[in-house]
Amino acid sequence: MKRLIPAFLAGALIWAGAARADILPGETKAFQCTACHGPTGMRHAPGQAAIGGRSAEELAAILRDYRHLRRINPAMQVLLLPMSEQDVDDVAEYFSLVGQTAAAR
Ligand code: HEC
Repeated sequence: MKRLIPAFLAGALIWAGAARADILPGETKAFQCTACHGPTGMRHAPGQAAIGGRSAEELAAILRDYRHLRRINPAMQVLLLPMSEQDVDDVAEYFSLVGQTAAAR
């Protein structure tokens, strides 16, 4: 039994590391969005919907509209044009997850 505990801990650490690695890329890239949208995507100007907590698919589709110039807003274009498709999915997932967490509190 004693030998199993370190093995379990190592396994838990590897698992936690893997889960964390999934979240981090989006978190780093999303930092530049938080100035306007707030840390959890819940801050928004009147008439604008909050981005936090919406589905990652919906957010990614909107972000691609800005990225591919189907929707125009200079602030959004400046940030989204240099992003890769993977970056778009990562930030969409990030705001979806942190927004849901913030709403659940
Ligand atoms: C300089 C301020 C600013 C920054 C930084 C910014 N945004 Fe925005 N964002 C806006 C404004 C203003 C709008 C509304 C634009 C419009 O009407 O199309 C908007 C719209 C959006 C929308 C569409 C919301 C909807 O319901 O239609 C999403 C999604 C979004 N931003 C995500 C992001 C993400 C992700 C980032 C980081 C990559 C980001 N924004 C960075 C100002 C900003």
